[in-house]
Amino acid sequence: MLSDTELNVVVLGLGYIGLPTAAVIARTGAKVLGVDVTESVVETVNSGRVHIEEVDLDGLVSGVVARGALRASAQIAPADVFVIAVPTPFAADHAPDITYVLQAATTIAAVLKAGDTIILESTSPVGTTERVRDLLAQLRPDLRVPGRAGEAADVAIAYCPERVLPGRILVELIDNDRVIGGITPRCARKALTFYRRFVRGACVTTTAPAAEMTKLTENAFRDVNIAFANELSLVADTMGVDVWEVIRLANRHPRVNILQPGPGVGGHCIAVDPWFLVHAAPDHTPLIRTARLVNDGKTDHVIAQASAMIEARPDAPVACLGLAFKANIDDFRESPALKVAQALAQRYGERVRIVEPYASTLPAPFDGTGATLIDIDTAIEGCPIMIVLVDHDVFRSVPVEERSDKLVLDTRGIWPDQPAAARQTESLRLVG
Ligand SMILES: NC(=O)c1ccc[n+]([C@@H]2O[C@H](COP(=O)([O-])OP(=O)(O)OC[C@H]3O[C@@H](n4cnc5c(N)ncnc54)[C@H](O)[C@@H]3O)[C@@H](O)[C@H]2O)c1
Repeated sequence: MLSDTELNVVVLGLGYIGLPTAAVIARTGAKVLGVDVTESVVETVNSGRVHIEEVDLDGLVSGVVARGALRASAQIAPADVFVIAVPTPFAADHAPDITYVLQAATTIAAVLKAGDTIILESTSPVGTTERVRDLLAQLRPDLRVPGRAGEAADVAIAYCPERVLPGRILVELIDNDRVIGGITPRCARKALTFYRRFVRGACVTTTAPAAEMTKLTENAFRDVNIAFANELSLVADTMGVDVWEVIRLANRHPRVNILQPGPGVGGHCIAVDPWFLVHAAPDHTPLIRTARLVNDGKTDHVIAQASAMIEARPDAPVACLGLAFKANIDDFRESPALKVAQALAQRYGERVRIVEPYASTLPAPFDGTGATLIDIDTAIEGCPIMIVLVDHDVFRSVPVEERSDKLVLDTRGIWPDQPAAARQTESLRLVG
């Protein structure tokens, strides 16, 4: 792996992707400036601390900040390479919102010089990298941009999506293969040279639109496959069959590999990115659109199931286990667990107790509901009804002796040994 103390890198957006990326680049010996519009993020990073939960990130950030290899600022400075890792949410009608990306490009334009490389890492609709190029051309007419001035461009612009798994970000940033899409092949080669400094996985070059679509395709693939599992869970419920057992058995087929059902699909990626494809080609995406609706519909189904259980036991306290969108992380964005717990808190108020080891206080959606945050031991002692929404290790580890008398709705299949009379399908029959 190469290292180069002369290389200056700016990373725009110091969130779940940008901060680990900035720290990993700083570790290679480059001088990294992290730029973020959120003041508290800048302050936290400059004090050598982190504002997000990610395995080993705190030690890495404190080390590179102490060495002066990474610093944060609200102000941009000139650099050789600019990496954009800002949010790309969608609007109410599911149209992708690339405002933050264009704002970041505008910020870069002020300090851009010939020879620089700009890499967009934010998950983006197809065509966004070219829009960044067009914006830079407009803001900096003195610089020749790629794809217009051909190979004679002054700056390189590329798209390189991130495909890391929260909880393993520092490992996967280095080990995962990267798809690098250049506006031109020369742009791709320049970006490739940069990623080679810290990526051990294969770096494959292509065009910017192909790389943009690759990222959206990966997440749509996951969404469609999870939708299949979620649909199966509804079918199995109707028939009183244990869906996890059926999936385990079906997966013994050498060419079948069904994913796990859950209370829906969450997170910043899988629940969002498929809409970018649907929005781009609405007439050709019935499957991708339906998968999104099936996964969102599963959340509504769980709310209905949980409500039926809660109403069958008036006054009994209810423990909602987990708010995060997946196990062992503190990320609540687009989380179906949070949506279920919030709906139940709004309906049943102070009967609802939330157990979330990755939260020190209840997030804003619970304000005014009367719901409280408790730990797992308190829940085991005082809550006869338990709704498992996240498969955090701490929930998995609760032995059957401590929950055999509970009425359980296990949306993650973490307690297969729960006595049948207290299990999901049986309990619903009991309710009905
Ligand atoms: N989180 C993941 O696991 C993951 C995985 C793959 C891809 N992505 C994609 O990476 C991108 C970033 O996601 P994230 O999870 O890191 O987001 P995040 O919300 O954790 O962080 C984004 C940061 O960008 C800052 N920001 C916003 N506008 C800015 C601007 N104009 N200039 C500088 N900073 C700005 C925000 O203050 C915030 O700190 C998104 O497109 C996301 O879809 C995320």
